[in-house]
Amino acid sequence: MIEAELIEKRTAKDYGLFKFKLKEKLKDPDAGQFVMLKSPDEPILAKPFSIYSYKNRKLTLFIKRVGRLTGKIFSSPIGEVFYVRGPYGIPYIKKIDRDKKYILIGGGSGVAPLNFFSELYPELVYKKLYGFKGRYIRELFEEQSSLVIEEESGKTVVDIFREVYSEELGILACGPIPMLKTLPPGSYVSLESVMGCGIGTCKSCAVKTKEGIKMVCKDGPLFRKEEIQWEWI
Ligand SMILES: Cc1cc2nc3c(=O)[nH]c(=O)nc-3n(C[C@H](O)[C@H](O)[C@H](O)COP(=O)(O)OP(=O)(O)OC[C@H]3O[C@@H](n4cnc5c(N)ncnc54)[C@H](O)[C@@H]3O)c2cc1C
Ligand code: FES
Repeated sequence: MIEAELIEKRTAKDYGLFKFKLKEKLKDPDAGQFVMLKSPDEPILAKPFSIYSYKNRKLTLFIKRVGRLTGKIFSSPIGEVFYVRGPYGIPYIKKIDRDKKYILIGGGSGVAPLNFFSELYPELVYKKLYGFKGRYIRELFEEQSSLVIEEESGKTVVDIFREVYSEELGILACGPIPMLKTLPPGSYVSLESVMGCGIGTCKSCAVKTKEGIKMVCKDGPLFRKEEIQWEWI
């Protein structure tokens, strides 16, 4: 695993941006890929986090605090050392149709891989819609125009998506399952699941698709919406 020193952190309630300086380079990280991150001093398994940004051995993650490891990251001081391995998963760019422009729809921590996609492939982005409930999230983002804040407008990210969508556009989405389920067929959806290994051996991230069981870590995390058997998720 690669040593990752926490060098910057900005938090707003249960969301935060955390920048780590890695001791070694990640191998060609691309948008949609994730790292498995572990804390050294606690018996917690490594957990998956999408790459929000990566440059010159500096890895930024956008994290929602939900439990033990994410809680530990939030409470860690600058200088704390974690460990990462990866990157894993198939880059979005290898799965999507490059002839289209995309609406990026993110909900909560699902914004992370979409941010990296928009950094690496700005020419493929038509519009970014990043949905959150509370306005406090504005503290974390420089580009405010991508934010759809339910508390401010009374509209969800899916409501705004319906207002701007037209059929020639592609859809690239990451976020809660109920949000992904409402999107039209043809959408590319990035799934999150519980993961043990991140490399296709433990089978904890299995998902039922029309072509049989697939692993989110190795075959995904991106799938066509119509590939997934949603009733099993
Ligand atoms: C490919 C992938 C990319 C991800 N990228 C990000 C990211 O960029 N930012 C981010 O904040 N999170 C991301 N996640 C989710 C992240 O892995 C979990 O939030 C994390 O494992 C929780 O660890 P914990 O020890 O804090 O929570 P735990 O103490 O293990 O669990 C706390 C609660 O969270 C639930 N939970 C745990 N893991 C998941 C999960 N994977 N999905 C849904 N609920 C879960 C548990 O059921 C429990 O209710 C990603 C997951 C995957 C599979
Ligand atoms: S996390 Fe182990 S097979 Fe996917």
